[in-house]
Amino acid sequence: MKSILIVDDELSTRQSLKMIFKEDYRIFSADSAKQALEIIKVQSINLVILDVFMDEMDGMSLLRLLHRDYPHMRIIMVTGARSLKTAGEALQAGADDYIVKPFSVEEMRMVVDQVIKSPAAINKARLLSGGGGWDCDYKEIVGNSFALKRILDQIEYIKNTKTSVLITGDTGTGKELIARDIHLRSIRNGGPFIPVHCASLPESLMESELFGHEKGAFTGAYRMKQGCFELADEGSIFLDEIAELSLLTQSKLLRVLQEGEFIRVGGTEKIRVDVRVITATNQNLKEMLGRKKFREDLYYRINVVHFHLPPLRERSEDIPYLIDHFFLSIKKELNLPVEEINPEAITIMQKYLWPGNIRELKNVLERVLVLHGFEKDILPSHLPLELLESPSFISLRRNDMNEEYSLQESVNNFERELIETALERTEGNQTQAARLLNTTRRILRYRVEKLKL
Ligand SMILES: Nc1ncnc2c1ncn2[C@@H]1O[C@H](COP(=O)(O)OP(=O)(O)OP(=O)(O)O)[C@@H](O)[C@H]1O
Ligand SMILES: [Mg+2]
Repeated sequence: MKSILIVDDELSTRQSLKMIFKEDYRIFSADSAKQALEIIKVQSINLVILDVFMDEMDGMSLLRLLHRDYPHMRIIMVTGARSLKTAGEALQAGADDYIVKPFSVEEMRMVVDQVIKSPAAINKARLLSGGGGWDCDYKEIVGNSFALKRILDQIEYIKNTKTSVLITGDTGTGKELIARDIHLRSIRNGGPFIPVHCASLPESLMESELFGHEKGAFTGAYRMKQGCFELADEGSIFLDEIAELSLLTQSKLLRVLQEGEFIRVGGTEKIRVDVRVITATNQNLKEMLGRKKFREDLYYRINVVHFHLPPLRERSEDIPYLIDHFFLSIKKELNLPVEEINPEAITIMQKYLWPGNIRELKNVLERVLVLHGFEKDILPSHLPLELLESPSFISLRRNDMNEEYSLQESVNNFERELIETALERTEGNQTQAARLLNTTRRILRYRVEKLKL
């Protein structure tokens, strides 16, 4: 069981956090930085939830200290003030994420879950603000790639139909955005759009989530509850992560799709609905058919029209449009003075492979703008290390081979150029430049002296 240390000088916050997490984690709590440090010395702590403002040593100083001495420890900062400056400072000082009071239980759970599960990339934060803050949620679909334009065209063709649509693509490629667009541009846009995350519920609850239940259908069913299919009547239902459904639920879903009617769990009355079904997955369903993990008849039902969203690296034409779009929206939303992203920084972003696709691009821009949006330009050195470290940055060019130079001279020239570029990108910061070049600062300094840079 992983362990969480809660550091907050308010007893009520400590208690409520403890209530939220005590089932799933070992919980320790401290009312001061001093007490926190004592606990950390003797206990192995995976995650610290840390209040920004406390008496004596403030949370920010403790954060810096922990980040320096316990780099593997994950840290979430909590603050009472909705202040971008504090958010920026906390992230810069090494916090993994940030949450604003008052937070909901759900929000807190989500942040903790993500921080604990994400690979230990220090300072890879996803910004989140407490209730009604600036969780940028831009609904516009942006891009100029052939793949995207084709999908947008096809959505136009099917807008008057009830055709089922299957959307595939890796995480963060925009599946949900496209699903909403299909609904919004269709003749049923006056009706509801109901998203269901098929991975989020255990099998026993999934059926009642989809089809509802009658009062007393099972222990805990105190009231009749309508399912998502009923709620989506005259609109669209979006079954996200459809590959996660168990074979049993798949067969129940198939029946509903074939017959257009269903019965609530524990009920007898047949209910008829008029619903367009949109499904999405990042799994390879075809391959799952082969392994008998997904029903073939269901596959053909949901896959009448198929849209595939390629990963961002395969449609890099979209990147400048997306950068522009997110830059302007975030700048406006946060009222930032920053004027532009410098061309070299754009080039670096365009070359990066974006494993997290558009979601990652958006998160990177949010974070860069929170940290540097008060400066005039966004420079390459403002970008997160994972972008600067990407292999495309260090590429040997053909014209580095030149018969005028001996091998050693060519190597020296290449090395000089690499080091100079790295130093330029990090504005002369040798520690950062060394990381960029995947070497130590000592070796870098030795090379700089040897090459008389
Ligand atoms: N073409 C686009 N233009 C503007 N924003 C986009 C575009 N595609 C995706 N986004 C944004 O990127 C983020 C991720 O998109 P979305 O949630 O639709 O991805 P997804 O494919 O459903 O991801 P997952 O599989 O992880 O659920 C969202 O904030 C969405 O608004
Ligand atoms: Mg999604």
